Amino acid sequence: MSSNVRPETMERITTEALANAFIDEKIAEIKAQVGNKKVLLALSGGVDSSVVAALLIKAIGQNLVCVHVNHGLLRKGEPEQVIEVFKNQMNANLIYIDATDRFLDKLAGVEEPERKRKIIGEEFIRVFEEEARKASDVDFLAQGTIYPDILESGPVKAHHNVGGLPEDIHFEGLVEPIKLLFKDEVRVVGRALGLPSGMVDRQPFPGPGLGVRCTGAITRERLNLVRESDAILREEFANAGLAGKVWQYFTIVPDCKSVGVKDNKRAVENFVVIRAVNTVDAMTATIEPIPYELLNKIVSRIITEVPGINRVLYDLTPKPSGTIEWE
Ligand code: XMP
Repeated sequence: MSSNVRPETMERITTEALANAFIDEKIAEIKAQVGNKKVLLALSGGVDSSVVAALLIKAIGQNLVCVHVNHGLLRKGEPEQVIEVFKNQMNANLIYIDATDRFLDKLAGVEEPERKRKIIGEEFIRVFEEEARKASDVDFLAQGTIYPDILESGPVKAHHNVGGLPEDIHFEGLVEPIKLLFKDEVRVVGRALGLPSGMVDRQPFPGPGLGVRCTGAITRERLNLVRESDAILREEFANAGLAGKVWQYFTIVPDCKSVGVKDNKRAVENFVVIRAVNTVDAMTATIEPIPYELLNKIVSRIITEVPGINRVLYDLTPKPSGTIEWE
């Protein structure tokens, strides 16, 4: 197994030329490691797993089996983008599993945030494990481990995620081609691999996805309100040139209603909270001051384009005292 320690002499990958050299080196290493055997990868569409997928496709083509599990808590357009980029454009061997019903049924009525996380994490492993068993001729498991994960300074993953495959699923080995890279390097490599900027530069997205932004017990109705309002917020941030500049920006739909006016009558409906924060390590965070005009545009689009929302709030709480997510 290759070393988990980044050599002091390893140059920081900051340019396309350095990224291309890294890509060539990794392709040769992967070919030497797996030969003609097959490799399985859980492809979420996040930066890390996408870069690993693109590298492996270059190295072994159809011998990479990508599994994209849609747990029903993804953002608008995400599964479609994974299919478009990997299956249609890169001709990947991609298995797409829409497990929405399975996850939402398990989550029905569950209010406690950590219990929700646990259910989502465990169910994800179960779905992936089923695919691993089906693909019985697969010998290696690829993972998008990056250097901060190894250093365990990644408070995000270490703190929140449950994970790991059951021990009775045996793989000959692990393929972790980006395990010595920092996030900014992964992005440079992703760009050099030709991945779209919407994928390479995307903001961090929690494993339990929109599930922690639809607070309390998740309902399909509120999940849809989170998804639609988030899509409007992201679109407006992109139009304003803020995408890639702000650490995280998203919407929350709390498990709570307020009264508004609809068709000249009082109507009790849900509300949306906008959150936009900047941070270096996610341990503390400051608020992104969204320009007033832009804020107004976002509010007006959400209340007109998302039926069921009558009010929009802007969360100005730094971390601490708030956390970045609402659950
Ligand atoms: P908090 O809410 O703790 O979030 O201030 C800090 C960072 O972690 C992300 N986050 C998660 N990431 N699984 C993840 O992979 C999770 O369960 C989870 N909860 C929060 C959050 O989006 C922020 O970047």
